[in-house]
Amino acid sequence: MVTASAPGKVILVGEHAVVYGRPAIAVPVWETVARAQVTLGVAGRGCVIQARDLGRTFALGEAGDDEPLAVVARATLAHLGLAVDPDWQIDLTSTIPMASGMGSGAAVCAALVRALFAQAGETPDPATVSDLVYRAEQIYHGTPSGIDNTVVAYGKPVWFVRGSPPVVFASAQPFTLAIAGSGEPGLTKQTVAAVRARRQENPRRYDAWFDEIAALAQTARTAIEQGAPAQLGPLFDYNHAILQQIGVSTPRLDRLVAAARRAGAAGAKLSGGGGGGNLIALVDDAAAPAVRAALLAAGAPRVIVTTVAAQPFPVA
Ligand code: MEV
Repeated sequence: MVTASAPGKVILVGEHAVVYGRPAIAVPVWETVARAQVTLGVAGRGCVIQARDLGRTFALGEAGDDEPLAVVARATLAHLGLAVDPDWQIDLTSTIPMASGMGSGAAVCAALVRALFAQAGETPDPATVSDLVYRAEQIYHGTPSGIDNTVVAYGKPVWFVRGSPPVVFASAQPFTLAIAGSGEPGLTKQTVAAVRARRQENPRRYDAWFDEIAALAQTARTAIEQGAPAQLGPLFDYNHAILQQIGVSTPRLDRLVAAARRAGAAGAKLSGGGGGGNLIALVDDAAAPAVRAALLAAGAPRVIVTTVAAQPFPVA
């Protein structure tokens, strides 16, 4: 038996703009994880994939090319030069909230890829995991930038520009985020498509917003690397204001963002595709309990507090 895991993620700055070639920053959230376990199955029965939290069990040999887990499993088995339908039982579980902007689909696939490599006695490099998971992201999200598969595959903060190798970077000082669900499902596929349609109507306005977001991402990276993460607060606020303008926030997300700020967060924004899903708030140790309580009182179904640890720079 082998097991493997992958973390959830949040985007700090740059969602949506990243689809159009601007940089974005994402960090892993190890408080929530996806796990994959491979055991030997019944001889002659082929590969059975059981994804309890997704409510799906299927035989790999019968799954179509619209099943993301099957697409990733087949691509990984081919990459490893293994049988197309080995007699393996694969169990997938996840504590990452689904449809929340925390990369649950990408993380389950990353855990699956790593477990298949482990079963073959190999350890994949993060770039290979990311490439294999991207195939599922295309089915889940249509035209993904690739940031979600990248951050869950690397498991470290990443500076991501579409089409370029990601830069894994480090925080000189730790900082803490409260991650709250909005209680509405995130609709990444729909919001990405809606932004695309609106940008076609008004490319100059949208590109100007994306350029502003790119500048925020650059300032955020400098603040993190130089040990001044408190500067992220106003950057989150500004990024949220632009996301409101491009039409991906909701009244509920706006209310929760305002509640977090009132309770002492240094800044807050929606995180991920929007239309629902998650928000993140920058908190210090003193403010964290009050911000958590305020978010729950304002209707957030859950709040996860995570610290982005300081690490030596550069990170391998
Ligand atoms: C989704 O986590 C982030 C978006 O920018 C979409 C993408 O990058 O593919 C909204």
